[in-house]
Amino acid sequence: MSGAVPSGFLALPSVDPVLADEVQNDLERVEEVLRDTVAASDPLLREAAAHLLEAGGKRFRATLVLLAARFGEAADNPELVPAAAVVELTHVATLYHDDVMDEAEMRRGHTSANQRWGNAVAILTGDFVFARASEMLADLGTEAVRLQARTFGRLVQGQILETAGAAEGTDPLDHYMQVIADKTASLIASSARFGAIFGRADQEVVEALTRAGEALGMAFQLSDDILDVAGDSRESGKTPGTDLREGVLTLPMFHALRGTDPADARLRSLLGRPLDEDEAREALELLRAHAAMGLARAEMRGWADRARAELASLPKGPAREAFEALCDYVVERTG
Ligand code: IPE
Ligand code: IPE
Ligand code: MG
Ligand code: MG
Repeated sequence: MSGAVPSGFLALPSVDPVLADEVQNDLERVEEVLRDTVAASDPLLREAAAHLLEAGGKRFRATLVLLAARFGEAADNPELVPAAAVVELTHVATLYHDDVMDEAEMRRGHTSANQRWGNAVAILTGDFVFARASEMLADLGTEAVRLQARTFGRLVQGQILETAGAAEGTDPLDHYMQVIADKTASLIASSARFGAIFGRADQEVVEALTRAGEALGMAFQLSDDILDVAGDSRESGKTPGTDLREGVLTLPMFHALRGTDPADARLRSLLGRPLDEDEAREALELLRAHAAMGLARAEMRGWADRARAELASLPKGPAREAFEALCDYVVERTG
């Protein structure tokens, strides 16, 4: 099969080159669908919607759909490319809204839509991208619509839980874990499920892949939160310290808050409240050097291991090896 040379995780030596080629080819077809779907009559909407899609992104969720399909008998099902495009468009729609909520300035290495056009345009663009995804979904059947609707409901619930903060009397760390499960693991789990369903995998395989996707999604968001502290904007395409500046507590911060060492008192006083630029810079420097980062990384690896354990029941072969490589990729990624 011809096509572009597989890149990113698909190029890892542990990924079977034939499988990598096939997934890469399908991903290129997903790109075409993504390009076509944002064509709209209104020029501002078209420009704002193309803004993030053309800026790139890892296409992690689309890749997961295509990979999960390799566990079934119908990896060539023509519905897989639109299914992969739907999850990717849903993800992109949430990025527009998330950057408004987080007052983010940079996304995918470019000025965020909210920063460039203002919140109203960014919110409407997210709605528009989501509408396009829904339209495409309608052709994939009622079950797919239901799965997507439930997933999106969970995702919004995660975002609102994060915004509301932990309720009185609830454990803030439990609250955080619930937030990341709902806002991020939900869509990643559903990406694996979509792939398995449209690849016509057996029911127990669909369930195992959904559970693996949920655990991998937890690792993915933990890694995102670690990268918000330790990452480099040239690789992540985002401004480090966004969570710190917004006063959003993430796993490394919970570990730092747990200590009682007087030497960390300054850092503790900077966590969980909105910070100005100088404070955010100081907090970032202190947290980067803190042992809390190592503890958070260990927990992230634990979730990737859980994902791997779910795969253990599945037949050995190139699909499973590639999914295992994806678990490694999530733990090691820098962008
Ligand atoms: C960012 O997702 C938002 C999260 C849920 C962590 P990605 O890290 O997949 O972002 P892109 O698609 O590569 O830009
Ligand atoms: C994003 O969470 C979750 C969704 C987009 C639903 P974050 O706010 O942590 O993600 P980034 O770091 O901005 O990509
Ligand atoms: Mg954000
Ligand atoms: Mg956010």
